[in-house]
Amino acid sequence: MLPTLTLTLLSLLLAPISSAQTTCTLSSTYRWTSTGALATPKSGWASLKDFTAVNYNGKTLVYASNYNTGTKSYGSMNFGLLSNWTDMSSAPQNSMPFNAVAPTLFYFTPKSTWVLAYQWGPTSFSYRTSTDPSNVGSWSAVQPLFSGKVTGSDTGAIDQTLIGDSKDMYLFFAGDNGKIYRASMPLSSFPGNFGTASTVVLSDTKNNLFEAVQVYTLANHTPPMYLMLVEAIGAKGRYFRSFTATSLSGTWTAQAASESNPFAGKANSGASWTDDISHGDLWRLNPDQTMTVDACDLQLLYQGRDPKNTPSDYNSLPYRPGVLTLQR
Ligand SMILES: *[C@@H]1O[C@H](CO)[C@@H](O)[C@H](O)[C@H]1NC(C)=O
Repeated sequence: MLPTLTLTLLSLLLAPISSAQTTCTLSSTYRWTSTGALATPKSGWASLKDFTAVNYNGKTLVYASNYNTGTKSYGSMNFGLLSNWTDMSSAPQNSMPFNAVAPTLFYFTPKSTWVLAYQWGPTSFSYRTSTDPSNVGSWSAVQPLFSGKVTGSDTGAIDQTLIGDSKDMYLFFAGDNGKIYRASMPLSSFPGNFGTASTVVLSDTKNNLFEAVQVYTLANHTPPMYLMLVEAIGAKGRYFRSFTATSLSGTWTAQAASESNPFAGKANSGASWTDDISHGDLWRLNPDQTMTVDACDLQLLYQGRDPKNTPSDYNSLPYRPGVLTLQR
């Protein structure tokens, strides 16, 4: 029998070799570099907002909300397929035949279908399916995703996101009210209706847990590790706070969650064109329902705006896309 010390040394030596993929731990202090504003909204639109982005046939497919200055209402769009984020400046901005505000786009592998979830349809959250998501005209008839209501909120349930593990599909959403909510169903029932019931998973002040919740699986973590981002209202602008959990049905622990040490905000974005780091999506390794991101290589597609251009109503703020890249 080998002495315990030798066994310990051997296992230390062998551990990195036996693990085929690198597991990156999340930074405790994030530092980013930023692009400038990547696109100007087309004529008639004040803004491009609420981005969701996937890899589609080797290119990047982005859906977004837009605010229409003529009708004074929100609509939605996609960009023509991108080879590089910088292509956003010249990519076609395609209006949609229905309004998919604050969209979430992913590929649901168990049923081989694309899913687009959004707010302000006939129910609190709605979804449609497609086999050709690059085409804004390809989406099915609208289906109910969630019909529950929230209290203490001017907006109602807002900013859904979806994520699956090996058994269940989860819906997370905000309420502009200091709460983050969760609902779930078996993977085998999805796409489908989560119904009306939800559980509060985080509770704080309105500003600290405002909106734009996103939830991701971290690649190559055994046991699993999940990352939640929530947009907060700070003294210096909008910023993202991060939380982690070891189960999607579990509790969330604050990670980089202050305005001075945020996941991403004015304090660490490196962006000079915007104070706000607001509603967007991390770059995912693949488009599927696991929403998997690589902690070694994070990129955040976000909405920012010129802080000197401040129309009095929030809806007309000139939000545009930008991308943060993590520095390690
Ligand atoms: C995207 O375009 C920028 C600017 O032209 C360039 O610096 C960068 O290398 C490109 N990225 C990729 C992944 O091709």
